[in-house]
Amino acid sequence: MNKLIRFASGFGLILLTGCGNGNQAPAAASDTAAGSTGATLAVLPDTAAFHDTVDGQPTALYILKNKQGASAAVTNYGARLVSLLVPDKKGLLTDVVLGYDSVGKYVHQPDTYFGAIVGRYGNRIAKGHFMLDGKGYTLATNDGPNHLHGGKKGFDAVVWTGQQPNDHSVQLTYLSKDGEEGYPGTLQIRVTYTLTDSNALIISYDGTTDKPTVLNITNHSYFNLNGQGSGTINNHILQIYADRYTPVDSTLIPTGKIQPVGGTPLDFRQPVAIGARVNDTANAQIKYGRGYDHNFVLNPANGDRLAGGGRLVHAVTVQGDQSGIVLDVFTNQPGVQFYGGNFLKGSDPLKAAKRDDYRSAFCLETQHFPDSPNEPSFPSTELRPGQNYQSTTIYQFSAK
Ligand code: GAL
Repeated sequence: MNKLIRFASGFGLILLTGCGNGNQAPAAASDTAAGSTGATLAVLPDTAAFHDTVDGQPTALYILKNKQGASAAVTNYGARLVSLLVPDKKGLLTDVVLGYDSVGKYVHQPDTYFGAIVGRYGNRIAKGHFMLDGKGYTLATNDGPNHLHGGKKGFDAVVWTGQQPNDHSVQLTYLSKDGEEGYPGTLQIRVTYTLTDSNALIISYDGTTDKPTVLNITNHSYFNLNGQGSGTINNHILQIYADRYTPVDSTLIPTGKIQPVGGTPLDFRQPVAIGARVNDTANAQIKYGRGYDHNFVLNPANGDRLAGGGRLVHAVTVQGDQSGIVLDVFTNQPGVQFYGGNFLKGSDPLKAAKRDDYRSAFCLETQHFPDSPNEPSFPSTELRPGQNYQSTTIYQFSAK
C-alpha cells in the first residue's frame, strides 16, 4: 500500500502537467550522471546527436531529472525512451534501457523498436485485416502473414511534436491521419513521460478520434536491469501477476482461448529466473515464441484505486541479479506482452559503445490483447468519436 501512495502522488504530477501546446526547447543534457557514491557509471547521450531532421521535421532529445539524481532521455522520433538512469543497490546510476546514441541509428535500425511508442495497433493483427462496424480494413502485413506494431511506418517511425513543461516531464503529440497505414479515423494522440522523485517513470497516453477506429498503443522499451549491454537477462528474477495467458499459433496470433499458466513454462506467479524454462521447447508456446513472446492476462484483483481516478493493477516485479535493481510495473491495461529479446542478434551498436545480444533485454509491453479486433471475446480496442482513450503505466524502480 505504501507503494501505491507514492504512485498516487506521482500520478498527480501528470494530471497537473496535462495542458499546453507548441514546441519548447529541451533542457540541456548533463554529460554524466553520478550515483550517491560519486562514481560515474552511466552517461546520457549527447543531445546534439538528436538535433537532426527526419522527413523534413526537427528531432530533439528531452532530458528528465528528479531530485534523487535519476534521469531519462526521450526523443520525439518515435516518442522513444532513449535512456533511463536509476540507482543500483550501491547507489550507482545504471542505464537500464537499450538505445542508440543518435537519431540516425534509430532511423537505420527500425526492426527492434527500441524504446518506441508502438501503434496505432501495438502487437499483431492476423493477416492484416479486421472488420469494424461491418466494414473491412486492410493493413500492411509486415511480420510474416500478419500486421505488427502499426505497419510499415507506425508511431515508432514518425516525428512527434515535443513540449517540455518542466524538468521532470515531456509531452509528445501526434496527429495520425484518416487512412494512415490503413486505419480509419483521424487520431489525435498524446504521450506524457514523467520521472517522479520516487524513481518512477510514468507513461500516460490519451487520444481522441473523429471516426470509429481501433487503438492499442504501448511502449516498447527493452530493459536490462544490470545495465544495457551487460549480457543475458536469463538470471533476472521475474514475477508476473497473471493466472492466465492468451496462447498463440505458430505465427504468434492468439488462438482466441484464455488458458491457465499453471503447469506451463509461462507460470511466473512465483518469482523465478527468466532462463529457468526458456528453452523448454517441448512446450509448443515456447517453441512458437522462440522463447518468451506472450501476452499475459493480468489478474484484475491485483490493484488498488488511485487518487487520480485511474485504477492500476500490479502487473510485474523483476529484479536484476547483479545490480539488485527492482522494477515494479503497474498499469490500467488488461495485459502485458513479455518478450524476452529472442530476435536480438548482437548486431546493434548501443549507447556507450555497448552491443545488444540474444536475450540480453526484455520488453514488458502493457497493452490490450493481440488481435483483439478479430476476437470478440477479448476486451475491446475500439475507440469512437466522443470517447477519450486513456492508458497509464508506471515503471517503478528501487534496489535491494
Ligand atoms: C515484440 C514482439 C516480438 C518482436 C519484437 C520486435 O513486441 O512481440 O515478436 O516482433 O516486438 O522485434
